[in-house]
Amino acid sequence: MKLIACYSNKGGVGKTAASVNLAYASALSGNRTLLCDLDPQGASGFYFRVKPSEKLKNTTFFEDTKKFTDSIRESDFHNLDLLPANISFRDFDIFLSRMKKSRSRLNKALKPVDGEYDIVLLDCPPNISLLSENVFKVADRIVVPVIPTTLSQRTLEQLYDFFKKQGYKSSKIFPFFSMVQQSKSLHLQIMEEIRAGNKQVMETWIPFSTHIERMGVHRAPALAYAEKEAAVAAYSQLWQEVQN
Ligand SMILES: Nc1ncnc2c1ncn2[C@@H]1O[C@H](COP(=O)(O)OP(=O)(O)OP(=O)(O)O)[C@@H](O)[C@H]1O
Ligand SMILES: [Mg+2]
Repeated sequence: MKLIACYSNKGGVGKTAASVNLAYASALSGNRTLLCDLDPQGASGFYFRVKPSEKLKNTTFFEDTKKFTDSIRESDFHNLDLLPANISFRDFDIFLSRMKKSRSRLNKALKPVDGEYDIVLLDCPPNISLLSENVFKVADRIVVPVIPTTLSQRTLEQLYDFFKKQGYKSSKIFPFFSMVQQSKSLHLQIMEEIRAGNKQVMETWIPFSTHIERMGVHRAPALAYAEKEAAVAAYSQLWQEVQN
């Protein structure tokens, strides 16, 4: 089982859009795939029309393996299951901080599904918290959407600094450019700057696209309704890169 986190310490950068489409691309290429929504906003579940499970609370998530596995739902797509989030996930950090080995709990929580899935994708909330540190420890790869703007560049630097300070493996971090507008010279300039200093940046970038923006209307991965659009097809390409 390979664990891939879509993570950024910055909000609204395209983590959920990437999680949903990468999970779809993974399932389509034959992997038994679980998308685990860790964000109390529950956007991944919304896109897949999967209702949040009320039984799975912040405590049971980490302590009750049966409730955890019982809360997994099938999506409308072959090979693709979802663990939907609910609002109680907002208190993850409070519960984690009271637990022993508080940075290894996600690893433990995911143990029961090891072997059931080839790929587990984690849609993460936007902060650097105890939950995020669990993600940093357990993930094989951390894909980080970066909108090529000055503030996003700064946030990415903060993430690398945090990894260095806390001793996490920064080789797990794979940034990719998100919501790129090629008409903006600042976007192009910042992409060039970040690429020059970071060999791990993905080749594939995701353009800003109304087809992707409309996922909320379709309530499906963009790849499921507009796979021929170049901006949307970029997610398939991104998936090829992520899994290599
Ligand atoms: N490539 C894109 N082009 C246009 N709009 C996009 C693109 N990617 C995402 N969006 C839109 O931008 C908004 C934020 O995207 P998304 O929810 O994926 O970000 P996020 O990082 O998961 O946000 P949060 O930090 O709140 O979880 C959404 O309305 C989404 O539809
Ligand atoms: Mg999100």
